[in-house]
Amino acid sequence: MATDLGLPIQTPLPAPERRMQLRPEREFVRFTRLQRALHACMIVSFISLATTGMTLKFSYTGWAVIVSHIFGGFQTAGYIHRTAAVLMFGVFSTHVYSLIQLKKKERKSWLALIFGPDSMMLNRQDLVQFIATMKWFIGRGPRPQYGRWTYWEKFDYFAVFWGIAVIGTTGLTLWFPVFFTRLLPGSFINIATIIHSDEALLATGFIFTVHFFNTHLRPEKFPMDTVVFTGHMPLAELKRDKPLEYEALVASGQLDEHMEEPQPEIVVRTIRGFAWVALGIGFSVVIWIIYAMIFAYR
Ligand code: HEM
Repeated sequence: MATDLGLPIQTPLPAPERRMQLRPEREFVRFTRLQRALHACMIVSFISLATTGMTLKFSYTGWAVIVSHIFGGFQTAGYIHRTAAVLMFGVFSTHVYSLIQLKKKERKSWLALIFGPDSMMLNRQDLVQFIATMKWFIGRGPRPQYGRWTYWEKFDYFAVFWGIAVIGTTGLTLWFPVFFTRLLPGSFINIATIIHSDEALLATGFIFTVHFFNTHLRPEKFPMDTVVFTGHMPLAELKRDKPLEYEALVASGQLDEHMEEPQPEIVVRTIRGFAWVALGIGFSVVIWIIYAMIFAYR
């Protein structure tokens, strides 16, 4: 058959097949929509807290004065800091609430949920894999066979818990000193400032170097791993990175349930733009901190 112009008419493919033709490779779903959204909000809140916090901490340096202008002055930096803290508390509470919902859905006890096979809790296997990884680094053994969560991913996850406990509680003390000094001696405000400030420096340094390296700068991931943003990873990557998880899913016949069409190209590009900005700010903050510590520390 041909059109009036003599061109052949192409029979359109049914919608699902058309999609398959455009993007034939389905991908493994590693993170749910809520987990991705919470991680994105965590990035926004942490970067806001770190940049405003460091501007206040190193306020006597030239760059802090420049950055404070971007925020609208030191006082406004303090307001942005408090607003970002509320967002971080919101992210943390939503995550804890989602765990309670998960427990109800799976009808498990807290012990079974916390110490179950796919849990984030550190266990003996993580110690074994940590030692095996150190041996692999120095060429004394093969790359360990990792499962759903590696020991460094679990460590990063728990860093948020003690971060909230230490930085969050001391931050609230600085925010509401009158209330807290009804319960605690006044000197505690000075102590809280030191703890908050130093633990914040540690957290910022850790996230923008170790966490960034582990997730984005490792040779297998360089220059960026988008899995926590898109939620998806190629199946070949799952097989190579998390062979134990892959084998368990194949053995239980559940792998297909975890496969989905890739995200649209425009979504992936937007995500990459957001992630590059976050990485850029993070690395810049590290350079600022090193500069301030070496040349200007008081
Ligand atoms: C999550 C809850 C948090 C709360 C409630 C909180 C609250 C506060 C408050 C009220 C101040 C005093 C601000 C001012 O003087 O105007 C402050 C200072 C500061 N915050 Fe936070 N903050 C939190 C998290 C963080 C995080 C995650 C970081 C960095 C990673 C951070 C880094 C800092 C730094 C460096 C200072 C300046 C301390 C100094 O003067 O030496 N804060 N915070």
